Amino acid sequence: MKTCLITGTTSGIGSVTATTMARAGYRVVMACRDPSRAFTLAKQITQATGNGEIHVLPCDLASMSSVRNAADAFSGLKLPLDVLINNAGVLCARPQLSADGFEMMFAVNHLGHFLLTRLMLDMLCDNARVVIVASAVHRTGVLDLENVETLKNFSSLKTYARSKLANVMFTFDLARRLSGTGISVNCLHPGVVASNIFPSNSWLSWGGNLIRPFIRSPEQGSAACATLALDDRVARTSGAYFNSNARQANPAARACDRVDQSALWAYSSSVCGLADTL
Ligand SMILES: NC(=O)c1ccc[n+]([C@@H]2O[C@H](COP(=O)([O-])OP(=O)(O)OC[C@H]3O[C@@H](n4cnc5c(N)ncnc54)[C@H](OP(=O)(O)O)[C@@H]3O)[C@@H](O)[C@H]2O)c1
Repeated sequence: MKTCLITGTTSGIGSVTATTMARAGYRVVMACRDPSRAFTLAKQITQATGNGEIHVLPCDLASMSSVRNAADAFSGLKLPLDVLINNAGVLCARPQLSADGFEMMFAVNHLGHFLLTRLMLDMLCDNARVVIVASAVHRTGVLDLENVETLKNFSSLKTYARSKLANVMFTFDLARRLSGTGISVNCLHPGVVASNIFPSNSWLSWGGNLIRPFIRSPEQGSAACATLALDDRVARTSGAYFNSNARQANPAARACDRVDQSALWAYSSSVCGLADTL
């Protein structure tokens, strides 16, 4: 049985993608910050799909120690990993720092996943797929690494866009570093999706409610992610950005800037306490 680890399955796109992977016959390991909700979901997925191999891995991506504990726990299972899906994400209405002292969206959407992915590399099997749920809003992001340990210049959407730009840059950089290994790394925009991403008690939830009837369902939003994880047609593609229809698309030019990619890699490795090289 193949194994898929996916982050952030307790709602939205991740919940549907976890179910799709279970239905496709994968052992699904759900890395979530709220294990009790994840256990409830695991039971529901088993009931819906007949797949009893649905597991919960406690993991708060805002905390590097929690990510390290999750990687250690997964490593203890001695399961080769076939698919890693970096799906979890937050959009914060208000400025806040993670416990480790990083702007929260950068911490969860990029740094936590960077650390998790790096710690998982040795467990990835030949031809493994790494799928990163990014966003088309990466186009409006500016890397601004000087300010990721401060809340200077905070703006919900621009700061979110920076974290999603980091997702795309990390995809391209990691794909290059893994070229020739058989492991693929791709990212995608899921579309604008009616999920829990719009934080409550803020203008973002007001805006989210307004557009909700016109945007994609989580099922539709999960389709491109499932394609990158499962479809044979993308098995040989790596280092690419896909749109919400699962077609390869052009990313923002700034996401392809190798100097910025290297700066992001070096910074992320350093603050995560990892070597700069693989
Ligand atoms: N919805 C959209 O329009 C849209 C558009 C482009 C890209 N995306 C991306 O799609 C991905 C999935 O988002 P979604 O729309 O499905 O949103 P969602 O319904 O809010 O789901 C986000 C998931 O991430 C988890 N999460 C948040 N913070 C976490 C943390 N610190 N540690 C571990 N897990 C954490 C959430 O857990 P809890 O349930 O515990 O909060 C939840 O399971 C994200 O990467 C998002 O940036 C979404």
